[in-house]
Amino acid sequence: MEISKVGVLGAGLMGHGIAQVAAQAGYDVVLREVDQARLDKGIGRIEKQLGRAVEKGRMEQSDADAVRGRINGTLDYADYADCDLVIEAITENLQQKLDMWRELDGIVNDGAVLATNTSSLSVIDQAAATRRPGRFVGLHFFNPAQVMPLLEVVQTVTTDEESLKTGFEFGERLGKTCVHAKDKTGFIVNRLLVPYMLDAIRAYEEGVGSIDQIDAAMKAGANHPMGPFTLLDFVGLDTTKSIADIMFDEYRERRFAAPPTLRKMVAAGFYGQKSGRGFYDYSGDKPVAVDPGL
Ligand SMILES: NC(=O)c1ccc[n+]([C@@H]2O[C@H](COP(=O)([O-])OP(=O)(O)OC[C@H]3O[C@@H](n4cnc5c(N)ncnc54)[C@H](O)[C@@H]3O)[C@@H](O)[C@H]2O)c1
Repeated sequence: MEISKVGVLGAGLMGHGIAQVAAQAGYDVVLREVDQARLDKGIGRIEKQLGRAVEKGRMEQSDADAVRGRINGTLDYADYADCDLVIEAITENLQQKLDMWRELDGIVNDGAVLATNTSSLSVIDQAAATRRPGRFVGLHFFNPAQVMPLLEVVQTVTTDEESLKTGFEFGERLGKTCVHAKDKTGFIVNRLLVPYMLDAIRAYEEGVGSIDQIDAAMKAGANHPMGPFTLLDFVGLDTTKSIADIMFDEYRERRFAAPPTLRKMVAAGFYGQKSGRGFYDYSGDKPVAVDPGL
Protein backbone atom coordinates (compact mmCIF):
# COMPACT_ATOMS: atom_id res chain seq x y z
CA MET A 1 0.00 0.00 0.00
CA GLU A 2 1.31 3.45 -0.99
CA ILE A 3 1.82 5.78 1.99
CA SER A 4 2.23 9.49 1.53
CA LYS A 5 0.94 11.06 4.71
CA VAL A 6 1.77 9.74 8.16
CA GLY A 7 -0.01 10.79 11.35
CA VAL A 8 1.83 10.63 14.68
CA LEU A 9 0.08 11.14 18.03
CA GLY A 10 2.08 12.36 21.00
CA ALA A 11 5.18 14.56 20.64
CA GLY A 12 6.93 13.23 23.75
CA LEU A 13 10.14 11.23 23.97
CA MET A 14 9.13 8.75 21.25
CA GLY A 15 6.56 10.65 19.16
CA HIS A 16 8.82 13.57 18.21
CA GLY A 17 11.51 11.11 17.10
CA ILE A 18 9.08 9.02 15.05
CA ALA A 19 7.71 12.17 13.38
CA GLN A 20 11.26 13.28 12.56
CA VAL A 21 12.41 9.98 11.03
CA ALA A 22 9.19 9.75 8.99
CA ALA A 23 9.71 13.29 7.63
CA GLN A 24 13.38 12.50 6.93
CA ALA A 25 12.20 9.55 4.82
CA GLY A 26 10.12 11.97 2.73
CA TYR A 27 6.65 11.48 4.23
CA ASP A 28 4.32 14.36 5.03
CA VAL A 29 3.71 14.19 8.76
CA VAL A 30 0.99 15.50 11.02
CA LEU A 31 1.85 15.53 14.73
CA ARG A 32 -0.70 16.05 17.52
CA GLU A 33 -0.32 16.94 21.17
CA VAL A 34 -2.86 17.68 23.89
CA ASP A 35 -1.91 21.36 24.18
CA GLN A 36 0.14 24.01 22.40
CA ALA A 37 2.94 24.07 25.00
CA ARG A 38 3.64 20.32 24.62
CA LEU A 39 3.38 20.55 20.86
CA ASP A 40 5.88 23.44 20.78
CA LYS A 41 8.21 21.49 23.04
CA GLY A 42 8.12 18.39 20.80
CA ILE A 43 8.63 20.38 17.61
CA GLY A 44 11.38 22.36 19.33
CA ARG A 45 13.19 19.08 20.01
CA ILE A 46 12.97 18.15 16.33
CA GLU A 47 14.31 21.57 15.29
CA LYS A 48 17.19 21.19 17.74
CA GLN A 49 18.08 17.73 16.38
CA LEU A 50 17.96 18.99 12.80
CA GLY A 51 20.10 22.01 13.74
CA ARG A 52 22.67 19.72 15.33
CA ALA A 53 22.74 17.46 12.25
CA VAL A 54 23.48 20.52 10.07
CA GLU A 55 26.15 21.77 12.50
CA LYS A 56 27.91 18.41 12.43
CA GLY A 57 27.80 18.28 8.63
CA ARG A 58 25.46 15.27 8.57
CA MET A 59 22.71 17.21 6.77
CA GLU A 60 22.49 20.20 4.41
CA GLN A 61 20.56 23.22 5.72
CA SER A 62 18.17 22.97 2.75
CA ASP A 63 17.41 19.31 3.59
CA ALA A 64 16.82 20.18 7.24
CA ASP A 65 14.42 22.94 6.17
CA ALA A 66 12.60 20.51 3.87
CA VAL A 67 12.25 17.94 6.69
CA ARG A 68 10.92 20.60 9.06
CA GLY A 69 8.55 21.81 6.31
CA ARG A 70 7.00 18.34 5.99
CA ILE A 71 5.97 18.27 9.69
CA ASN A 72 2.72 19.96 10.61
CA GLY A 73 1.84 20.28 14.26
CA THR A 74 -1.80 20.24 15.27
CA LEU A 75 -4.18 19.98 18.22
CA ASP A 76 -7.00 18.83 15.94
CA TYR A 77 -7.89 15.20 15.11
CA ALA A 78 -9.56 16.39 11.88
CA ASP A 79 -6.09 16.84 10.33
CA TYR A 80 -5.67 13.03 10.32
CA ALA A 81 -8.52 12.43 7.85
CA ASP A 82 -6.26 11.89 4.82
CA CYS A 83 -3.45 9.97 6.57
CA ASP A 84 -2.46 6.59 5.12
CA LEU A 85 -0.75 5.43 8.31
CA VAL A 86 -1.39 6.65 11.86
CA ILE A 87 1.05 5.78 14.67
CA GLU A 88 0.16 6.50 18.26
CA ALA A 89 2.98 7.28 20.71
CA ILE A 90 0.89 8.74 23.52
CA THR A 91 1.13 8.00 27.24
CA GLU A 92 1.41 4.28 28.11
CA ASN A 93 -2.11 3.97 29.47
CA LEU A 94 -4.65 1.68 27.82
CA GLN A 95 -7.70 3.80 28.69
CA GLN A 96 -6.11 6.96 27.27
CA LYS A 97 -5.17 5.12 24.11
CA LEU A 98 -8.69 3.69 23.70
CA ASP A 99 -10.24 7.15 24.24
CA MET A 100 -7.91 8.55 21.57
CA TRP A 101 -8.77 5.83 19.01
CA ARG A 102 -12.48 6.36 19.71
CA GLU A 103 -12.08 9.99 18.59
CA LEU A 104 -9.79 9.23 15.65
CA ASP A 105 -11.08 6.00 14.10
CA GLY A 106 -14.15 7.61 12.56
CA ILE A 107 -12.12 10.49 11.10
CA VAL A 108 -9.23 8.64 9.42
CA ASN A 109 -10.09 7.21 5.99
CA ASP A 110 -11.11 3.55 5.97
CA GLY A 111 -8.12 2.37 3.93
CA ALA A 112 -5.54 3.70 6.40
CA VAL A 113 -3.47 1.44 8.64
CA LEU A 114 -3.42 2.23 12.36
CA ALA A 115 -0.42 1.43 14.56
CA THR A 116 0.69 1.58 18.18
CA ASN A 117 4.19 2.12 19.51
CA THR A 118 3.29 0.58 22.89
CA SER A 119 6.13 -1.13 24.75
CA SER A 120 4.13 -3.29 27.08
CA LEU A 121 0.41 -3.36 26.31
CA SER A 122 -1.12 -6.04 24.08
CA VAL A 123 -1.68 -4.61 20.62
CA ILE A 124 -4.93 -6.53 20.21
CA ASP A 125 -6.56 -4.58 23.07
CA GLN A 126 -6.29 -1.41 20.98
CA ALA A 127 -6.96 -3.08 17.61
CA ALA A 128 -10.18 -4.68 18.83
CA ALA A 129 -11.50 -1.31 20.01
CA THR A 130 -11.35 0.12 16.47
CA ARG A 131 -13.57 -0.53 13.45
CA ARG A 132 -10.58 -2.04 11.62
CA PRO A 133 -8.83 -4.69 13.74
CA GLY A 134 -7.45 -6.22 10.51
CA ARG A 135 -5.73 -2.98 9.61
CA PHE A 136 -3.96 -2.53 12.93
CA VAL A 137 -0.30 -3.35 13.70
CA GLY A 138 2.29 -2.70 16.36
CA LEU A 139 5.25 -0.56 15.23
CA HIS A 140 7.62 -0.62 18.19
CA PHE A 141 10.46 1.89 17.86
CA PHE A 142 13.41 2.17 20.25
CA ASN A 143 14.66 5.24 22.06
CA PRO A 144 15.98 7.46 20.50
CA ALA A 145 13.94 6.70 17.39
CA GLN A 146 16.26 8.85 15.26
CA VAL A 147 19.25 6.66 16.18
CA MET A 148 18.19 3.14 17.12
CA PRO A 149 18.05 0.91 14.05
CA LEU A 150 15.41 -1.60 15.19
CA LEU A 151 11.68 -1.63 14.45
CA GLU A 152 9.57 -4.51 15.77
CA VAL A 153 6.59 -4.99 13.45
CA VAL A 154 3.95 -6.67 15.56
CA GLN A 155 1.21 -8.90 14.18
CA THR A 156 -1.88 -9.54 16.28
CA VAL A 157 -4.36 -12.38 15.82
CA THR A 158 -6.40 -10.03 13.59
CA THR A 159 -3.71 -8.19 11.56
CA ASP A 160 -4.13 -8.86 7.82
CA GLU A 161 -1.17 -9.62 5.56
CA GLU A 162 -1.42 -6.35 3.62
CA SER A 163 -1.23 -4.22 6.77
CA LEU A 164 1.71 -6.25 8.05
CA LYS A 165 3.45 -5.68 4.71
CA THR A 166 2.67 -1.95 4.94
CA GLY A 167 4.36 -1.89 8.36
CA PHE A 168 7.49 -3.55 6.95
CA GLU A 169 7.61 -1.30 3.87
CA PHE A 170 7.27 1.80 6.03
CA GLY A 171 10.07 0.66 8.40
CA GLU A 172 12.36 -0.23 5.52
CA ARG A 173 11.86 3.19 3.94
CA LEU A 174 12.91 4.70 7.29
CA GLY A 175 16.09 2.64 7.00
CA LYS A 176 15.20 0.52 10.03
CA THR A 177 16.05 -3.14 10.61
CA CYS A 178 12.54 -4.60 10.75
CA VAL A 179 11.76 -7.77 12.66
CA HIS A 180 8.47 -9.61 12.79
CA ALA A 181 7.15 -10.17 16.31
CA LYS A 182 3.95 -11.75 17.58
CA ASP A 183 1.70 -9.85 19.95
CA LYS A 184 3.16 -11.28 23.18
CA THR A 185 3.84 -8.83 25.99
CA GLY A 186 7.40 -7.46 25.67
CA PHE A 187 7.66 -8.59 22.03
CA ILE A 188 11.24 -9.79 21.35
CA VAL A 189 13.62 -7.24 22.85
CA ASN A 190 11.94 -6.51 26.19
CA ARG A 191 11.10 -10.19 26.62
CA LEU A 192 14.84 -10.88 26.68
CA LEU A 193 16.23 -7.60 27.99
CA VAL A 194 13.93 -6.94 30.98
CA PRO A 195 14.69 -10.26 32.77
CA TYR A 196 18.41 -9.64 32.10
CA MET A 197 18.32 -6.19 33.73
CA LEU A 198 16.25 -7.47 36.66
CA ASP A 199 18.68 -10.33 37.12
CA ALA A 200 21.59 -7.87 37.28
CA ILE A 201 19.83 -6.20 40.25
CA ARG A 202 19.29 -9.61 41.88
CA ALA A 203 22.97 -10.48 41.34
CA TYR A 204 23.86 -7.22 43.10
CA GLU A 205 21.40 -7.98 45.93
CA GLU A 206 22.97 -11.41 46.34
CA GLY A 207 26.43 -9.84 46.62
CA VAL A 208 27.93 -11.31 43.46
CA GLY A 209 29.58 -7.99 42.62
CA SER A 210 29.27 -4.24 43.05
CA ILE A 211 27.37 -2.04 40.59
CA ASP A 212 30.41 -0.83 38.71
CA GLN A 213 32.04 -4.30 38.75
CA ILE A 214 28.95 -5.95 37.26
CA ASP A 215 28.84 -3.22 34.58
CA ALA A 216 32.56 -3.59 33.85
CA ALA A 217 32.19 -7.39 33.65
CA MET A 218 29.37 -7.32 31.11
CA LYS A 219 31.17 -4.74 28.96
CA ALA A 220 34.51 -6.55 28.87
CA GLY A 221 33.22 -10.13 29.13
CA ALA A 222 30.14 -10.07 26.91
CA ASN A 223 31.19 -7.14 24.72
CA HIS A 224 28.07 -5.15 25.59
CA PRO A 225 28.38 -1.42 24.83
CA MET A 226 27.14 -0.60 28.36
CA GLY A 227 26.65 -2.60 31.54
CA PRO A 228 23.19 -3.47 32.89
CA PHE A 229 23.11 -0.72 35.57
CA THR A 230 24.13 2.00 33.11
CA LEU A 231 21.42 0.66 30.81
CA LEU A 232 18.84 0.63 33.63
CA ASP A 233 19.64 4.27 34.42
CA PHE A 234 19.35 5.16 30.73
CA VAL A 235 15.99 3.40 30.22
CA GLY A 236 14.67 4.82 33.51
CA LEU A 237 14.05 2.77 36.65
CA ASP A 238 10.38 3.84 36.75
CA THR A 239 9.88 2.75 33.13
CA THR A 240 11.68 -0.56 33.74
CA LYS A 241 9.58 -1.24 36.82
CA SER A 242 6.29 -0.54 35.09
CA ILE A 243 7.23 -2.79 32.13
CA ALA A 244 8.36 -5.53 34.56
CA ASP A 245 5.08 -5.25 36.50
CA ILE A 246 3.03 -5.62 33.32
CA MET A 247 5.12 -8.58 32.14
CA PHE A 248 4.87 -10.23 35.56
CA ASP A 249 1.10 -9.74 35.52
CA GLU A 250 0.92 -11.40 32.11
CA TYR A 251 3.31 -14.34 32.62
CA ARG A 252 3.45 -14.80 36.41
CA GLU A 253 7.10 -15.82 36.24
CA ARG A 254 9.77 -14.77 38.75
CA ARG A 255 12.14 -13.63 36.02
CA PHE A 256 9.77 -10.73 35.29
CA ALA A 257 9.24 -9.73 38.95
CA ALA A 258 10.71 -6.36 40.03
CA PRO A 259 13.32 -6.99 42.77
CA PRO A 260 12.89 -5.07 46.08
CA THR A 261 15.85 -2.76 45.34
CA LEU A 262 14.18 -1.55 42.15
CA ARG A 263 10.86 -0.98 43.87
CA LYS A 264 12.48 1.02 46.68
CA MET A 265 14.59 3.17 44.35
CA VAL A 266 11.52 4.06 42.30
CA ALA A 267 9.62 4.91 45.50
CA ALA A 268 12.50 7.24 46.47
CA GLY A 269 12.37 9.05 43.10
CA PHE A 270 15.74 7.64 41.92
CA TYR A 271 14.73 7.13 38.28
CA GLY A 272 18.19 7.08 36.70
CA GLN A 273 19.76 9.65 34.34
CA LYS A 274 16.57 11.69 33.99
CA SER A 275 16.31 12.39 37.73
CA GLY A 276 20.08 12.79 38.26
CA ARG A 277 20.35 9.65 40.36
CA GLY A 278 19.77 5.95 39.86
CA PHE A 279 22.40 3.27 40.29
CA TYR A 280 24.81 6.09 39.45
CA ASP A 281 24.93 9.70 40.65
CA TYR A 282 25.02 12.10 37.69
CA SER A 283 25.67 15.34 39.58
CA GLY A 284 29.44 15.43 38.91
CA ASP A 285 31.54 15.38 35.73
CA LYS A 286 31.41 11.60 35.57
CA PRO A 287 28.68 9.20 36.76
CA VAL A 288 29.65 7.61 40.09
CA ALA A 289 28.14 4.29 41.19
CA VAL A 290 26.15 4.61 44.41
CA ASP A 291 25.36 1.75 46.73
CA PRO A 292 21.57 1.96 47.19
CA GLY A 293 22.20 0.78 50.76
CA LEU A 294 19.24 -1.58 50.83
N1 LIG B 1 10.26 5.73 26.40
C1 LIG B 1 10.71 4.68 25.69
O1 LIG B 1 11.89 4.30 25.76
C2 LIG B 1 9.78 3.97 24.76
C3 LIG B 1 10.31 3.12 23.78
C4 LIG B 1 9.44 2.49 22.87
C5 LIG B 1 8.08 2.71 22.98
N2 LIG B 1 7.57 3.53 23.96
C6 LIG B 1 6.12 3.75 23.98
O2 LIG B 1 5.85 4.97 23.33
C7 LIG B 1 4.69 5.58 23.91
C8 LIG B 1 5.03 6.98 24.37
O3 LIG B 1 6.06 6.91 25.30
P1 LIG B 1 6.99 8.19 25.61
O4 LIG B 1 8.14 7.67 26.40
O5 LIG B 1 7.23 8.96 24.36
O6 LIG B 1 5.99 9.01 26.58
P2 LIG B 1 5.98 10.58 26.87
O7 LIG B 1 5.29 10.73 28.17
O8 LIG B 1 7.35 11.18 26.69
O9 LIG B 1 5.05 11.18 25.72
C9 LIG B 1 3.70 10.92 25.60
C10 LIG B 1 3.02 12.18 25.07
O10 LIG B 1 1.70 11.85 24.61
C11 LIG B 1 0.90 13.01 24.83
N3 LIG B 1 -0.51 12.64 24.71
C12 LIG B 1 -1.32 12.05 25.62
N4 LIG B 1 -2.55 11.86 25.11
C13 LIG B 1 -2.52 12.34 23.83
C14 LIG B 1 -3.48 12.41 22.77
N5 LIG B 1 -4.71 11.96 22.92
N6 LIG B 1 -3.09 12.97 21.60
C15 LIG B 1 -1.83 13.43 21.43
N7 LIG B 1 -0.88 13.39 22.38
C16 LIG B 1 -1.23 12.84 23.57
C17 LIG B 1 1.34 13.50 26.19
O11 LIG B 1 0.98 14.87 26.35
C18 LIG B 1 2.85 13.28 26.13
O12 LIG B 1 3.56 14.43 25.70
C19 LIG B 1 4.23 4.64 25.03
O13 LIG B 1 3.23 3.79 24.53
C20 LIG B 1 5.50 3.85 25.35
O14 LIG B 1 5.24 2.57 25.86
C21 LIG B 1 8.41 4.18 24.83
